Amino acid sequence: MTPVTVWVALGSNLGERRANLDGAVEALCSADEVEVVRVSPWFETSAEGGPSGQPPFLNGCLEARTTLAPRTFLWLLQRLETQYGRERAREVRHGPRALDLDLLFYGELELDSPELVLPHPRLEERVFVLEPLCTLAPELVLPRCGRKVRERLAELRAALGGAGTLERCAEPEAARRWCAEQRAQGLRVGFVPTMGALHEGHLALVRHALAENERACVSVFVNPLQFDDPRDYERYPRALEDDARLLASVGCSMLFTGRLEQFFPEHARGEPVPLRAPGPAAEGLEGAFRPGHFAGVATICARLFELVRPARAYFGAKDFQQCLVVQHLARALGFPEIVVCATAREADGLARSSRNQLLTPAERSQAPALARALFAARAAWRAGARDPARLEALLRAELARSGIQVEYAEVRDPERFSERPREPLVRARALLAARLGRVRLIDNLDLAADEPGEPM
Ligand code: PAF
Repeated sequence: MTPVTVWVALGSNLGERRANLDGAVEALCSADEVEVVRVSPWFETSAEGGPSGQPPFLNGCLEARTTLAPRTFLWLLQRLETQYGRERAREVRHGPRALDLDLLFYGELELDSPELVLPHPRLEERVFVLEPLCTLAPELVLPRCGRKVRERLAELRAALGGAGTLERCAEPEAARRWCAEQRAQGLRVGFVPTMGALHEGHLALVRHALAENERACVSVFVNPLQFDDPRDYERYPRALEDDARLLASVGCSMLFTGRLEQFFPEHARGEPVPLRAPGPAAEGLEGAFRPGHFAGVATICARLFELVRPARAYFGAKDFQQCLVVQHLARALGFPEIVVCATAREADGLARSSRNQLLTPAERSQAPALARALFAARAAWRAGARDPARLEALLRAELARSGIQVEYAEVRDPERFSERPREPLVRARALLAARLGRVRLIDNLDLAADEPGEPM
């Protein structure tokens, strides 16, 4: 018989949990006709169902190959559970146990018999099974819901709200320790740096981070180094407790904050913070209108990345030029992978931004003109317009119609960002900055992309 791939979930919440699980893995490694291929890290989770007050579980899963028939393999698992004291006839449902082994998949076999149902019937509803499975097989498609393991896990985490699981670190050093502990357990940390006043755009980044990493961590720090205007820094909205509630609701793992002197000990000693050169993408546009802004962004991001040491860091495409600056930084540091996520928009097209809440009702009704201008430029691109000057004129005309004061309206080749675009354009990103009263808004759009869900 050719070997079949099987997936087994392991759990323990009684006695020496780690030793029990290691013992079970060892026993499977030395069992005849079984080859253990990979074992996930162990995850601590509180017990679900069963008597109240029982200790938390340590859960994991493993992939093996076997030539044993499904029921023989099940029997092997049950015999192991018995060795660890399980007495099926007398046990309390979902009660504490030294060893719990579940056969999740036996190849692609579907079976519905009194003693064995395959794939495991409750697998797709259980975070504590999907979490370790996701570390080994994130792309595995779950047969009942048709979703990949990572997608289903993200859905469940969001639905459960993750309430109560958000770890909070009030200073960078505590965050550094927490992240190091996660990495030591083999868990990848996805990182979302923010300045707080979180909105749906940030939450989408956290969901994305949770779908691709075992942990998602968010920093909230209004970074004075990146503000060229002190009034803008003071006015920037701050809402830490609301932020924490929102993050808990999407299952974020950790939130940390800190003060400037905690991020930069140089500052505490009264010395200037050494600023990082932000690279060529920082020239023009935001770089021209906000002198020093990108040096401040690169400097804080480098410090945050060093603290968190994330596998991946997530940024919104609304700050397109910032994404290029951060990609340049990550290349210089050698990590992390930078993931750029689509801009979250309101129903009327306005790009979500923490600054939107500073708009007066009149300004708020003017603001969607930015997105309208961008989508009009995209329509022109689709109709064949390739001349940057013509596309820029169109952007300005649309904004002028709404009485909006433009700072810049430019079309650039995203792959040759620091050059004036060559004609005819083969790729194009339109970028805008405008002032509505005291509020400065930016937005941008890939003119050549074919994204669904266009507003308006
Ligand atoms: O985009 C932001 O909110 C900030 O620029 C960042 C990346 C958190 C750095 O302070």
